[in-house]
Amino acid sequence: MSVHQSTHLKRITTHILQEMKKRHEKISMLTAYDFSMAGIVDAAGIDMILVGDSASNVMAGHETTLPITLDQMIYHATAVVRAVERALVVVDIPFGSYQGNSSEALRSAIRIMKESGAHAVKVEGGAEIKESVVRILSAGVPVMGHLGLTPQSIYKFGTYTVRAREKEEAGKLLEDAKILEECGCFALVLEKIPAKLAKKVAETISIPVIGIGAGQDVDGQVLVLHDMLGITQEFQPRFLRQYADIRSTMLEAVGNYIQDVKSGDFPNEKESY
Ligand code: KIV
Repeated sequence: MSVHQSTHLKRITTHILQEMKKRHEKISMLTAYDFSMAGIVDAAGIDMILVGDSASNVMAGHETTLPITLDQMIYHATAVVRAVERALVVVDIPFGSYQGNSSEALRSAIRIMKESGAHAVKVEGGAEIKESVVRILSAGVPVMGHLGLTPQSIYKFGTYTVRAREKEEAGKLLEDAKILEECGCFALVLEKIPAKLAKKVAETISIPVIGIGAGQDVDGQVLVLHDMLGITQEFQPRFLRQYADIRSTMLEAVGNYIQDVKSGDFPNEKESY
């Protein structure tokens, strides 16, 4: 087992991300939920790591992001933070831990920051969660917004199809983006919306806009690590580019191991004491 080595890299901060937007340097972001994966992603030079509540799907096998708890998010975030030397680590506040009222939102954000050592939190929604966003920010906790397809509201939407195609919803999304910027959010995720609308949002607000299924005219991109590595199989949306076929590699490796164990080939003399 290897331990991630210290290289004294300059840490990414919210200020650096702002500067990157100003000089039109694209921001890279991926999810990670555990020490080993986060260490690899960080060593590769990613700018931001999202401890997403997609852990509910990817790590725990739930159908939606709703069941994951605050304690479970803190567990994942703590493991990620232990591995990361450079990237800014953002943690999703899970469903049911901030929508109730702003005091609850603040308590959840503080627990995440204090117990995991993460650098920022992410929340889904616009005007309706403004009070909570302001309260969290007032405690000095950086907040990332998330608009468009917001998976915590999947039962309200009813489907995972592209959001804000209609004029009314697109107008509300733009207004929500401005509200989150005015509140003081340091960045915004836009998920699964028309590229033209995402471009307009990125041009309108001064904070970095990170897209997932939002086209190329935004300030950065985020993907779920297990999807882009080809570990998950069932999730194949149009916006997903698969950079590896790790599932096949693992299937082959595990298959070979099983064969070697069954045949008695493993362990051999050199692998024995
Ligand atoms: O939880 C998650 O992985 C996310 C990304 C899809 C942005 O919120």
